[in-house]
Parts: sequence; structure tokens; C-alpha cells
Amino acid sequence: MADKSAKLRINDQDYDLPILSPTQGPDVLDIRKLYGQADVFTYDPGFTSTASCDSTITFIDGDKGELWYRGYPIEQLAGQSNYLEVCYLLLYGELPSAEQMSDFEHRVTRHTMVHEQMHNFFRGFRRDAHPMATMVGVIGAMSAFYHDSTDVADPWQREVAAIRLIAKMPTIAAMAYKYSIGQPFVYPDNELDYASNFLHMCFSVPAEKYTVDPALARAMDRIFTLHADHEQNASTSTVRLAGSSGANPFACIAAGIACLWGPAHGGANQACLEMLREIGTVDRIPEFIARAKDKNDPFRLMGFGHRVYKNFDPRANVMKESADEVLELLGVGDNPTLQVAKELERIALEDEYFVSKKLYPNVDFYSGIILEAMGFPTSMFTPIFALSRTVGWIAQWKEMIGDPQNKIGRPRQLYVGSERRDYVDFSKR
Ligand code: CMC
Repeated sequence: MADKSAKLRINDQDYDLPILSPTQGPDVLDIRKLYGQADVFTYDPGFTSTASCDSTITFIDGDKGELWYRGYPIEQLAGQSNYLEVCYLLLYGELPSAEQMSDFEHRVTRHTMVHEQMHNFFRGFRRDAHPMATMVGVIGAMSAFYHDSTDVADPWQREVAAIRLIAKMPTIAAMAYKYSIGQPFVYPDNELDYASNFLHMCFSVPAEKYTVDPALARAMDRIFTLHADHEQNASTSTVRLAGSSGANPFACIAAGIACLWGPAHGGANQACLEMLREIGTVDRIPEFIARAKDKNDPFRLMGFGHRVYKNFDPRANVMKESADEVLELLGVGDNPTLQVAKELERIALEDEYFVSKKLYPNVDFYSGIILEAMGFPTSMFTPIFALSRTVGWIAQWKEMIGDPQNKIGRPRQLYVGSERRDYVDFSKR
């Protein structure tokens, strides 16, 4: 029950709106009964002032630049935990005991292979298809392969679907990559940890022995961890909205992947690296900064700005450290793209336009730099984001399905179209 309320006056009539208080963050006006009582809707395109659900999973303080998963700050998780432990935390709410962790690892590992028939499904795509296009199709098609985990009313099937998705995403992302470069698919090696296994499936070939560099595996794991969840962002809201109709989890995650692909969201990591390449040399940066500031030019500095963070993106802080480590390890710090990135960051952080609008480098700015240094093509950046975010989508989807208050998501609108009019016969138009 809310113990605070706000008054809303419409045409001399007062309405009490309960105020809900979260454990953290701003209070929330409860307008659920508003339409029934006052016959008005609220208007909030882009949901800039709207809480679409209650959630116990992730908290962001955009002004302070804080991100917590289940209460644990991202810096601690990125420094001391690992991705699979973070998956457990996001899915079940608490850090696992050693026994719970080993059981979870065992369950995920047992599900890393995909149905052999899926190889044929992959082969139906053009080789030059973007791996995200392949991912949307293949993940959606999982409901055609794994019928025994599509009943959303059955908690056991929900659990199996969650494990399957987390386990198979690296395999599917790596297959999408291998297919696009014309190399044979590499089966998972369950002796390897989650991140090493992904690198192995992407970079090894049957003709040669490939040893995963533990430092690179650690950097990969950190990228997964930093992207694991981010409360009610566009793709997560898409997953929740799709799931609110009772759609199966594979269809919902495919919807999330489709949404993530856009350059304003997960597609920004690819767009950012392409922008750095287009800039090419440090002396051309001022030209691009000027374009970003020009109101008549749609160009934006990719990898800068965030809807919620109006301070440094805490994920970017960790990612920046990781980028420095990886570049040093690989000895590629003098790569021209990376030189442009460093100089662009320096200039943008001092420029009045970016400073006054609080446009800091975001997670996508640095992740692309690391992934490029590791040898991934830009087209794989967003699939890697999708792989990492799958656990967040699934945790949020499970939370929603398990919530007794869950109902189908159905926003209303401010209709600004034509008044009622009568059909005119073709001969009279
Ligand atoms: N370059 C230049 N100007 C910018 C940028 C940018 N990257 N981002 C925002 N602005 C300006 C924008 O023109 C606007 O100016 P004004 O107030 O004068 O009209 C002001 O800053 C506020 O921008 P907004 O579009 O109202 O902010 P938003 O919250 O709707 O958009 C954003 C957030 C992330 C979509 C946007 O900053 C952007 O397009 N950034 C580039 C794409 C990007 O890096 N996306 C990844 C986000 S982090 C990972 C993820 O969530 O997937």
C-alpha cells in the first residue's frame, strides 16, 4: 500500500494518485486507475517518465553513474565475479554457494550443443547475411526445435528454456560468424569455461590447434558481465512486451535481438567502430565533432550519450580499463583506429557541447575497441552484445511471467488523425 499520494486536478475535479516508494530511485506516481476514474490517458512517448513494471533485478542511478545487479555494484562484479556467476545472480536473486554454482555450471554446460538439424537451418542463409539477421532467425526458430520448453505456464519448462538460451547463445553466435566467413562450424568444448569456449568456437579451425589466451578470455568474460542486464531498456522492454502476450521464450528473445540491433541501442558498437574508421585520422576529428553539433546534420557521435546516464557510464569505466589491458597485451595500441578513438574521447570530454549535454562515452565506445583488437569483425559486435544480454532478458521475462499482476502490455495513444468521415467511391475521388 502506498502511504503517500499526489493530487491531480482536472476540470475542478480532484483525483488522488498513490505514490509508490522504491527501495532506491525516484518515487513513482501510480496512475493505473486514472483512466477509469478521470477518463484521461497520460502521454509519454519514449517512456522518459514512465516506470513500466516493478522489478528486483537491476538498479541504475543515472546521475551518480551507478549500476547494480541485485544490489551488487557492477564494478565489484566485473572485478571479482565472472559471467556465469552473474547469470546465476540475475536469474535467482542471490550469489550461489559453491555447490549451487557447480550445479548451475553443469546444467549450462550440458546444453551448449545445438540440435544437429539446426546446421541445415543455418545453411539456408546467404553467406553475406549480417550475423544479427541470422541470430534473429535462428533464435526464433529454437521454438521449432525445442518444443518441450515452450509452455510458459510450466515453471520447469521456463527454467529449461532459460538454461538452453544461456548455454546455446555462444554456440549460435559463433556459428553465425563461422558461416559468414565460410569456415566449418566448431562444436563447443565443455572442458572450457563459458568465455573461453566462445573464443574457441569463433577462432579455432579443425586444421590447427588453438589455445585460448586466458587474459583474452577474462576480457571476454568481462564484456559479457558488463552487458548482462540494464533494467528496462528498449530490447528488454520488447522482450517483456512480447512475453506479456504469453509468447514462448524463444520468440520473445528473438524480438529482443531484433530491437537490440538498432544503432541507437546495441548496434551502436558496430556503428561506433565504423565511424572511427570513417574518421580515419586524428586531424579529421574536428570535422566530425562539428557535424555532431550541427542541428541540421543527423550525424551523431556513436558511442556517446545515454538516455539514463547523465554522468560517466559505469560500464564504460570498467571497459576502458579492460581496453587498455587488452591493447597492451596484444601490442596494438598504435593502431590508427584506436588512436582516433583515444583522441576523440579526449576532445569530446572537454568540448562544451558534450560537457553541457552530459554526453559521455558509453559502454559501446570501448567494447568495440576491445573486440576489434581481439580480431572480431564489426558485424560480430552486436551479436556479442545479444549473447551477453540474453540472461538479462530471460531474468526479466521470468520475473514478469511469475508476477501475479502480469497482464498483456497495451499502451494507448493520443490520436491526432482524421475525424470520422464517410467512404468515397473510387469514381468520385
Ligand atoms: N552525438 C551528438 N549529440 C548527441 C548525441 C550524440 N551521440 N547524443 C545525444 N545528443 C544530443 C541530442 O542531439 C540532443 O540535443 P538537443 O537537446 O540540443 O536536441 C541531446 O543530446 C539529448 O539527446 P536525446 O536524443 O534527446 O537523448 P536520448 O536519451 O533520447 O538518446 C541515445 C540517447 C543513446 C539514443 C543518444 O545519446 C544517441 O543516439 N547516442 C549515440 C548512439 C549510442 O551510442 N547508443 C548506445 C547507447 S548505450 C548502449 C545501449 O543502451 O544499447
